[in-house]
Amino acid sequence: MRDDQIEGIGYFVDLQPETEDFLATVLDGLSQQQKSIPPKFFYDAKGSKIFDQICEAPEYYVTRTEIALMNEIAGEINELVEPGSIVVEYGCGSSLKIRALLSALPDPAEYLAIDISKSHLIATVKEIAADYPKLRVGAICADFSDALNWPAEANAERDQRLAFFPGSTIGNQTPEEALQFLERVRHLVGDNGNLLIGVDLKKDTDVLNRAYNDAAGYTADFNLNLLRRIKDELGGELDISSFEHDAFYNEDLSRIEMHLVSRLEQSIGIGGQQFDLLKGESIHTENSYKYSIEEFIELAGTAGFNSLKTWTDADNYFSIHYMAAK
Ligand code: AVJ
Repeated sequence: MRDDQIEGIGYFVDLQPETEDFLATVLDGLSQQQKSIPPKFFYDAKGSKIFDQICEAPEYYVTRTEIALMNEIAGEINELVEPGSIVVEYGCGSSLKIRALLSALPDPAEYLAIDISKSHLIATVKEIAADYPKLRVGAICADFSDALNWPAEANAERDQRLAFFPGSTIGNQTPEEALQFLERVRHLVGDNGNLLIGVDLKKDTDVLNRAYNDAAGYTADFNLNLLRRIKDELGGELDISSFEHDAFYNEDLSRIEMHLVSRLEQSIGIGGQQFDLLKGESIHTENSYKYSIEEFIELAGTAGFNSLKTWTDADNYFSIHYMAAK
């Protein structure tokens, strides 16, 4: 469906997949040896609110560090990026980040936002269009990990396309999936394209463990919210308090893992099916991979990007990479 009826917006392309079948995905995930539910289901309205609280938690350095770094490097970004670029944002999360980028850029021509959540996407592009009246704004409602072609409505005369993928969202993917994703980004931006990407770094294990086990319990709420969704939306028969949040850094695989651990031997019912859990058995809900700067540059290099510049904060917690198509 293609539709440009949204006020103030240049174009809106709706490629939203059939509402992702939450029930089918949960039933399938709980039937595996290691039970699992993918992290994209964290972000219903309540989960997105809890995520905002996580970002305010003192232990969760990720968002705060990236935004501060973006503001710090604004002048350099201004000099590196050609005027008249088209900015493509993958997953328009916090509008603070895109605002920091758009304000830093020399005369950007167009902003194209891609997000799976239609309401969130429309709200973001409307706000940006109102605040940057000279900017052409477009939106594609799609799962950004799917293959995408340059939409016919987007400006095709200019080939200065800048993909923006902040937040270390790439960390949710395995390195193999991340490579495939970056190859798709490389295809979308073309031979004259660039990439600006935020990547969380390997660091002291205690710092990582604290960031995913904040004292206020926001990350635990965020994780347990999945069970609330299963109860409310799927009529799941389970007691949320019989599960606990578990997050730890898996050093061998360079990733934070989040799990929901059963406090007791139990059976939960969903959609007419029963799932047995042993005491201490877990449902794996998220991975958050951490990279060294060299590892990430190598991965992106394999996908067809040359590293032009990498910035980190003073603690070396987080990195932002500016890359060009090879
Ligand atoms: C949004 C995927 C970058 O992995 O740090 C935060 C999500 N999960 N706390 C991350 C998250 C638990 C976050 N990303």
